[in-house]
Amino acid sequence: MKKKIFSGVQPTGNLHLGNYLGAIKNFVELNNDEENKCIFCVVDLHAITVKQNPKELRSNIRETVATFLASGIDANKSIIFNQSTVSAHSEAAWVLGCVARTGWLNRMTQFKEKAGKDKEKASLGLYSYPVLMAADILLYDSTHVPVGNDQKQHLELCRDIAQKFNIDFAADNFFKVPEPLIQKDFSRIMSLKDGLKKMSKSDLSDFSRINLTDDEDQIISKIKKSKTDTLPLPNNFNELENRPEAKNLLGIYSSLKNSDLEKTIKNFAGKNFSEFKENLSQELVDKIGPISLEIKKLLGDKGYLDKILSNGFEKANEIATKKMKNIREIVGF
Ligand code: AMP
Ligand code: TRP
Repeated sequence: MKKKIFSGVQPTGNLHLGNYLGAIKNFVELNNDEENKCIFCVVDLHAITVKQNPKELRSNIRETVATFLASGIDANKSIIFNQSTVSAHSEAAWVLGCVARTGWLNRMTQFKEKAGKDKEKASLGLYSYPVLMAADILLYDSTHVPVGNDQKQHLELCRDIAQKFNIDFAADNFFKVPEPLIQKDFSRIMSLKDGLKKMSKSDLSDFSRINLTDDEDQIISKIKKSKTDTLPLPNNFNELENRPEAKNLLGIYSSLKNSDLEKTIKNFAGKNFSEFKENLSQELVDKIGPISLEIKKLLGDKGYLDKILSNGFEKANEIATKKMKNIREIVGF
């Protein structure tokens, strides 16, 4: 059976190494496998769950497309589109919102983190965000969803919503229950300033992350300044305990090299951080440098990026509109 892959990335700027190693690198591999049908969505409806500047949002939508292409996603082998252009996403989200239970949503840890202390001031959209994500996935009968570790709980919710809809409306197997595809080892890349915090677009310090648009000098200087501890590099996995920064940097290196952590530990056992950091910078410059250059080049051709999105719209809209028509019938509209 062909796998139907679906994933989304928010156009909120500052796409970083965590997005690349946790998600986009995986998209590229899945897309290269002829057996798979892939859909990659720029999820702008999700982006506006927190305040966005309209001008910046528009430019970030193109930048996300440019990042997909520059990372190696082939637009001829996949569908790349912008979520808000396909109105079935909003429509399906409403129906699914009437299936999901508030008790389920109350358990979502990402909402708690993003809403912070003052939950009353968070938007309703931020709260129902995972329901929209379920709509994205279920409209395309997706079988597999590649994401970083932080989205695992949202995917479980999506599975619950699909199953409850199928039962409530006696529509056996109408929504396919999707499988998450989360990388085993490096699905959570941490901040360069704090090994216990996720690398994030919204961190105020630019030195906490490697942006996919960073140039060689920026990469080298960020790695040089990244937090470490005072010990030499460990001799084995057990010695990494309570050393989150060392673990993160060794993990990043392994993931870039497509190697396992054990092997990387062996390579650098007992060495000091400065030597390791030079190797890590070089690896990053080799892998991220060309992506950064290509993003900048693609951003110079807005017409091309818009064409990719309008082609993607045609294909996605056809699939989603059909599914939405069936949803309407099942529900009794
Ligand atoms: P977002 O930027 O929140 O739309 O995330 C896009 C994709 O990148 C999702 O699949 C996330 O799970 C993944 N992702 C975001 N931050 C990280 C991180 N620090 N480590 C690994 N994956 C991440
Ligand atoms: N919520 C995801 C994130 O922040 C993005 C997303 C939206 C998504 N819709 C999706 C991911 C559907 C996978 C499938 O990272």
